[in-house]
Amino acid sequence: MEEEFFNKLREKVLPYFEGTNPCHDICHADRVLSLVLAIGGKEGADLEILKVVALLHDVARKEQDESRGKICHAERGSELAWGILRELGYPEDKIEKVIHCIEAHRSRKGDVPESIEAKVLYDADKLDSIGAIGIGRAFSFSGSIGSVVHISDVDVNDNGEYGREDCAYREFLAKLVQVKYKMFTDEGKKIAGKRYDFMVEFFDRLNREIKGEL
Ligand SMILES: [Fe+2]
Ligand SMILES: [Fe+2]
Repeated sequence: MEEEFFNKLREKVLPYFEGTNPCHDICHADRVLSLVLAIGGKEGADLEILKVVALLHDVARKEQDESRGKICHAERGSELAWGILRELGYPEDKIEKVIHCIEAHRSRKGDVPESIEAKVLYDADKLDSIGAIGIGRAFSFSGSIGSVVHISDVDVNDNGEYGREDCAYREFLAKLVQVKYKMFTDEGKKIAGKRYDFMVEFFDRLNREIKGEL
């Protein structure tokens, strides 16, 4: 892809990320971009499509957050992506490939990634929630909702409103441990395994520090 097109796309996308939650800001899109290229290169995927979807996949995340979940960012993001890419004169057949990736990247929505590019985007996006960056994101999010820093014996089954017990460790036990089982690509599985091991080691150490053992 021409660098000029990519730069124009990035410029168009930036305003949608202004004021977003740090877990889904433009830095998240940039991290996903690095991962889709790394994974996509090994999986034989179309790297041009992947560069475009990395930048666009969460373009409607702010709308979802501001609507308290009433707007689905995968659905709305697909609409926005159509508009943005058409305006830039991107070929229709490629736009369709991009749209499938965006529609299928949200696990809760029910669409299943079918193309290799959609599978790579799905894996890269979920991988950003685990490993060292996942730990960083989990603490950032728990801080934003006023949670305590850590509870070693946190109740994982409490599914009520977000509150003081929604620390990073609870997020790890309740959700992040499952991410490695959700990968579609072989490369995604490999990276997820390593990131999972690091998180286990980190929280094990944290629990030992809390007990005064280290
Ligand atoms: Fe997303
Ligand atoms: Fe994302």
